[in-house]
Amino acid sequence: MPMKKTIEIKKDEKGFGTLYVNDEPFLILGGELHNSSSSNLQYMEKQVWPRLKELNLNTVLLPVAWENIEKEEGVYDFSLLEELIFQARREKMKLILLWFGLWKNGESTYVPGWVKRDGGRFFRARYKGGELSQTISPLCKNAVKADARAFTVFMKKLKDIDAESQTVLMVQVENEIGFLKSDRDYSKEAEKQFRSNIPEELEKIYGISGTWSEVFQSDAAEMFMAWNYAQAVEYIAAAGKRAYELPMYVNAWLNQFPDRPGNYPSGGPIARNKKIWRNIAKSIDVFAPDIYLSDFEGVCKEYATEGNPLFIPEARRDQVTASNAFYAFGKYGAIGFSPFGIEGLMEDTRQKQDKELLEQLQIDVLAFTSIETGKYLKETYKILKNMQKLYFRFKGTENIHAFMCRNEHERGTIVSLSGCDLELTYRPKGNERPGCAGMIIEENESEFWAVGYNTDIRLLPKKSSHDCITIICLEEGFFDNGKWSSGRVLNGDERSMSGFGQYAEVRHYIYCKETTDEKEG
Ligand code: DGJ
Repeated sequence: MPMKKTIEIKKDEKGFGTLYVNDEPFLILGGELHNSSSSNLQYMEKQVWPRLKELNLNTVLLPVAWENIEKEEGVYDFSLLEELIFQARREKMKLILLWFGLWKNGESTYVPGWVKRDGGRFFRARYKGGELSQTISPLCKNAVKADARAFTVFMKKLKDIDAESQTVLMVQVENEIGFLKSDRDYSKEAEKQFRSNIPEELEKIYGISGTWSEVFQSDAAEMFMAWNYAQAVEYIAAAGKRAYELPMYVNAWLNQFPDRPGNYPSGGPIARNKKIWRNIAKSIDVFAPDIYLSDFEGVCKEYATEGNPLFIPEARRDQVTASNAFYAFGKYGAIGFSPFGIEGLMEDTRQKQDKELLEQLQIDVLAFTSIETGKYLKETYKILKNMQKLYFRFKGTENIHAFMCRNEHERGTIVSLSGCDLELTYRPKGNERPGCAGMIIEENESEFWAVGYNTDIRLLPKKSSHDCITIICLEEGFFDNGKWSSGRVLNGDERSMSGFGQYAEVRHYIYCKETTDEKEG
């Protein structure tokens, strides 16, 4: 009997997740397309696939919009989806599909025309003064059912056309959910429910009962939205999974200054809403942050907890993205990383920024500006792709270390290995370069691999020991499909300057330690 094909996320002892395709670990070296690129096949052929060729990606994240597959109620057209999958196979690329259904960035702009026109059946959320928003209310059962129905048909179709080939690895359910410009929905239905007691399910989770305001006080509005969105997403995702069991995730527009719900989509899967989201949306495998903020580490830390695998479906477009990727994989065992607007990453986009749009989306211009970021990212991805066998051999163990300079005052860090300490000194890197970051993989007590950007490395005895650490051999080189191919042996001047520059590099160290206690004889 042929083996059942599987795509699943398994967790290791450290709680890190790994995506497995037929029991083989898979590292998502991804990039997400601009929102409209995948709506046209010719555009994909001319403007997208050729630009992705040299980036060393293995996965493309692209939207599938409800408005394109169910133009008329109950009549489905999957020709675009099928062709996109064929194109991806031809390009030897995996896909992650983003289901732009009821909600995209807090609004309902991707629903079909027949949904937009029927405000009675598909009622919208309202602001405090009663004005209508562009968001279909998550309390609107008709809308959630209609989305779930379309999503189910879509997942069934996906199973038919792709379960064998496994081009599609995961599905994102909706996009940056939540209600914008208001702390909560004030529609008639929402008003009624907000004045009632919290649902029993929440009473159990929080061990308390009462009205929303009594239980959650000043957070009541946001918790109310989180509950309603999480429930809707669960309904939709569970229906889709029944049709085709693929890993599913939701992505978050992160809260930031001024940190008030409505300034970012209220009720979305941000870190502080995790209790409600994780308890209610049980069919969701990963809660994922879109990271445009500068505190990359802080966000990773908030998300890579309590067994939630780290996946970064949208990341900054400036050069630090190339160094951040090493950190996400090295420190938090990320299952994947994916800068946004990947098809434009080889360009200099300084003159093309739409400042007004970025302001609305709360993305700072720098985070969205590529100054040929692709030329750095392609090096990171090339290295990771070729050294992943080594990486997976040690993932989830104490043998993997990562480092990253968080601000200009930080001069370096010490990484403690089993046989020695590493003094990592961050190089002054100037603007328009990747950050100072990388990863160390300890092969054993006297051998390690180092990879990264803009950092010098010195081997020291372990703190409080008087060992003498001697480098036996230091090589530059590269991995080719898991096999180390050495370049120069670095000694003399090159050894004292040993470290990484502005393009990612790999080094192999063999060293020994001798205790300085004198022996008799
Ligand atoms: C975050 C959204 O999730 C993306 O779809 C996109 O709109 C980017 N912001 C910015 O363009």
